[in-house]
Amino acid sequence: MSINPKVQQLRQRRAQSSLGGGLQRIEAQHKRGRLTARERIDLFLDKGSFRELDAFVVHRGRDFGLEQQKFLGDSVVTGWGTADGRLVYVFAQDFTVIGGSLGEAHAQKIAKVMDMALRNGAPLIGLNDSGGARIQEGVDSLAGYAEIFLRNTLASGVIPQISVIMGPCAGGAVYSPALTDFVIMVRNSSYMFITGPEIVRAATHEEVDFETLGGAAIHAEKSGVCHLVVDSEADALYMVRKLLSFIPSNNMDDAPFHPTDDDPLRMESRLDEIIPDDPGKPYNMKDVICMVMDHADFLEIQEGYAENIVVGFARLGGHPVGVVANQPDVLAGVLDIKSSEKAARFIRFCDAFNLPVITFVDTPGYLPGTDQEHNGVIRCGAKLLYAYCEATVPKLTVITRKAYGGAYIVMSSKHIRGDLNLAWPTAEIAVMGPDGAVGKVFGKELQAAADPEQRKKELIDDYREKFANPFVAAARGYLDDVIEPRETRSRLINALEMLVNKRDSNPPKKHGSIPL
Ligand code: HXC
Repeated sequence: MSINPKVQQLRQRRAQSSLGGGLQRIEAQHKRGRLTARERIDLFLDKGSFRELDAFVVHRGRDFGLEQQKFLGDSVVTGWGTADGRLVYVFAQDFTVIGGSLGEAHAQKIAKVMDMALRNGAPLIGLNDSGGARIQEGVDSLAGYAEIFLRNTLASGVIPQISVIMGPCAGGAVYSPALTDFVIMVRNSSYMFITGPEIVRAATHEEVDFETLGGAAIHAEKSGVCHLVVDSEADALYMVRKLLSFIPSNNMDDAPFHPTDDDPLRMESRLDEIIPDDPGKPYNMKDVICMVMDHADFLEIQEGYAENIVVGFARLGGHPVGVVANQPDVLAGVLDIKSSEKAARFIRFCDAFNLPVITFVDTPGYLPGTDQEHNGVIRCGAKLLYAYCEATVPKLTVITRKAYGGAYIVMSSKHIRGDLNLAWPTAEIAVMGPDGAVGKVFGKELQAAADPEQRKKELIDDYREKFANPFVAAARGYLDDVIEPRETRSRLINALEMLVNKRDSNPPKKHGSIPL
């Protein structure tokens, strides 16, 4: 049977569109160890589920020879499909077409798919590989970015937005990801910077390579821009699916429940032994988290940044939860500027998307010193306080050891609407640690003592017995219960189920004024 010439023409156009910048550019992309936009989408979505939009869109640029470089679909592939059976909207920038640069048409394609994602309540996944604003399109490129930034912001807290960085991303190509909920980078292959090394050299005479300027390690450990680092593009796409498994499709939806065969009543006797006898000794809070959560499955977010606090996703009795935990293994679990910002942002994400927050507390308080004070530990510490105070999702707290001073209040205490506040018998809740407290209150007595060291030891023991335990707080109802560590999992799951219909709200307002 002969094919209708019009259909034939359609097929030819579609085939041409699917080649992006052409075979030579595709080969160059592969030589750099990177996949093309379409290959990435195929790898990410369920087989055969992708439905493309705007495959025939072309740019309207006429300057600097751009009119000679027209490619069907321009430099981005957009559409929708399913990931593990769930609807998602996706755009993948095509580096084979003018370096994935963003002009008017490219921006309109992304804006269209963003509008659809927002209207239909499904996650938006951006696979970014772009040199930023297309220089030849001038202000139209900037206008295009503005359209995207506006939509990123309006969609924030309504649908999850996840950005994967899969190549050298510059300019506007990094600001859009920065507005989204999670940024995933590929080690040794993805880069984020406002301007690339060449422009840095021209502007500041600074010699710097891609990796040092904006590689995955820099953004995961130093700048805090990146949330998850992986070794390959395939791992990055797997990570998006894993992340999505914990979060609902929109802010009106419940988080996805995954039935589990991990016994909700499982007693974990190893927890009874985990706190060292010496209160100055560290232990790894991640061990606690893994022993409590379903099948020890914990997806840590920002693992390499502000390691003195641990945040991430897990499930309890099949219910997805956000976990926030001080990490006594790093800087004794102290709160500081970076850890406060890291946890505050995570809590706000959980609160926006109906994910209960489980908090494990072991912190000596905020880090003292000029470095912290001068860089704004007051302002940044307040962000964490603000995030916990405003959150209306179920909040469950377990104090494992130290909860001193402001940190006791901040870390999801009863006073700031904790729904169930538990402590282990090893908990120490007081205004400050024994050393500092004894020095402050008994300074003069210690100076006059015949044996100051011996007297100090006696006073510290006395303080610890009187104040640094959970029973003073429990006696006032500031703790709901003191539990055996082994019971932690069953108590938390029971509480989550008790809170399944929790409804709480904040006073009506346009929005709060979080100390940014
Ligand atoms: C037009 C671009 C482009 C751009 C890359 N290309 N970026 N074309 N506008 N922004 C083109 C290149 O000319 C080249 O075309 C092709 O894409 C591949 O780029 P290469 O440089 O060969 O690749 P590579 O060596 O891997 O370097 C990638 C890069 C570099 C680091 C992204 O291209 C770069 O530095 N580009 C400029 C980045 C930048 O400063 N962007 C900021 C724009 S301002 P040919 O035909 O030669 O192969 C911005 C403002 C937004 O975005 C506002 C935000 C608030």
